[in-house]
Amino acid sequence: MHTIMVSGGTSTLGRAICERFVKAGERVYCGYASNKKTADELADSYGSSLIPIHLDIQNPESIASVIQELEELDILVNNSGVFSVFTPTELVEFEWQRIFDINVTGLFRLTQQCIPLLTESKGCIVNIASINALHPGFGGTSHYDASKGAVVAYTKSLAKELGPSIRVNAVAPGLLQAPYLDDANPLKQHYEERSLLHSLVDPGDVAKVVQLLVDCKAMTGELVGVDCGYLMG
Ligand SMILES: NC(=O)c1ccc[n+]([C@@H]2O[C@H](COP(=O)([O-])OP(=O)(O)OC[C@H]3O[C@@H](n4cnc5c(N)ncnc54)[C@H](OP(=O)(O)O)[C@@H]3O)[C@@H](O)[C@H]2O)c1
Repeated sequence: MHTIMVSGGTSTLGRAICERFVKAGERVYCGYASNKKTADELADSYGSSLIPIHLDIQNPESIASVIQELEELDILVNNSGVFSVFTPTELVEFEWQRIFDINVTGLFRLTQQCIPLLTESKGCIVNIASINALHPGFGGTSHYDASKGAVVAYTKSLAKELGPSIRVNAVAPGLLQAPYLDDANPLKQHYEERSLLHSLVDPGDVAKVVQLLVDCKAMTGELVGVDCGYLMG
């Protein structure tokens, strides 16, 4: 049994990742920043294999107390990430800083503190980037696109610096299926029209790729797209 920690484990994608690894028989620490209710509900559904843990990646003390609680760690999934829409002229510096503090600096803070445990286990890291890193400019997303571009560069750089002890890879999901994206949503319509599979991405399919990156010992420094063929469209 491996020990896995998923940041933002109650989010649309985080939840799918937690569920996939619990069902594979692993011990999963499901990190939440504010959404304790969903983390507790997941623990009720999955029993002792899914352990809710308060993890605020903007707060170094929160990260340190999580690391103290873990006795071992084989896999870190850096999934926490936030999104907003502002044109480059509307965007205020506070919002730029907020997005970077969670999507980039928070990911760095958590990763750095996990390195000793991952070195001991010869473990691996999977970072959740985005299709926006490869195809920026959806409109109003320059700050988010830049943050995810940084995640990709950091992933590749870390893979070089931490190999051969720790493998580091990233996934670039396309637009995920979520209850708030109804059929009238113009972004959903655009995505379905352009993507080769005419579909949004099922979070469960992204979780499968995360598991592949964990299982495949020959992969490091890779960025794998899971976008229903949007970039090819
Ligand atoms: N949704 C998409 O279409 C899409 C597409 C491509 C990539 N992605 C990426 O996939 C990942 C998950 O996206 P999602 O849409 O599933 O997320 P989401 O539902 O929007 O939820 C955001 C997650 O980030 C966590 N978070 C926010 N601030 C945090 C902090 N200070 N410390 C720790 N965690 C914090 C939240 O935790 P709490 O709720 O507990 O506060 C929540 O779990 C993100 O990295 C996102 O950029 C998403």
